[in-house]
Amino acid sequence: MSALAHEGQAPSGPFRIAVLVSGTGSNLRALCQSAAVQQGLVRIVGVWSERPDAPALRFATDTGLWAEAIAFRGGSEREAWNRDLAAAIRRKAPDLIVLAGFMRVLSSGFLRAVEVGIVNVHPSLLPDFPGADAPAQAIRAGVCRSGCSVHWVDEGVDTGTLIAQAAVPVAPGDDVQSLHRRIQTAEHALLPAVIASLAERRTIQSA
Ligand code: GRF
Repeated sequence: MSALAHEGQAPSGPFRIAVLVSGTGSNLRALCQSAAVQQGLVRIVGVWSERPDAPALRFATDTGLWAEAIAFRGGSEREAWNRDLAAAIRRKAPDLIVLAGFMRVLSSGFLRAVEVGIVNVHPSLLPDFPGADAPAQAIRAGVCRSGCSVHWVDEGVDTGTLIAQAAVPVAPGDDVQSLHRRIQTAEHALLPAVIASLAERRTIQSA
């Protein structure tokens, strides 16, 4: 079961996504290059990062996307940072928020404030290896198969309802970097495919 944005009406206009990034931005790039974005089914209405120096943010600016850094504030400021980020995103009225390599855990206050669903891409076959260093966890565990997951975000860390997964082999000589590169290649296909599918169905939230 999913919530649909325009039940009973013909959907109008592009499906608006807000993209949150912390890293190199290869998933953001894959989204930008996807048919759904190129053909106007999906529009990236803004890109946010908690790291003003994130290469992904530079990529967004260079590509002409609307981009903003809201530098992370922890400790007693953490909830205020969550509020500021939620308020900034709401101003762009997205239908969906996409965490594309965003490395902070968002608070329950953030989840309530944005009032739209949030999807995350994670570099493991969840529920295996949640958290920050999933490819390293896979190497340490000696598994022969790993992959990536796209899931709805809930209040836990990588615990929300799964939407789709793609598996990749772990080769005998793999290290963390080579495995992560293979997983990211799979992410670059899976994340845009999931977003296109949600956009086609105007799905804005898990049940
Ligand atoms: C991806 O592997 C994602 O799954 C993880 O962080 C990485 C970000 O890569 N959470 P990029 O910034 O999209 O290149």
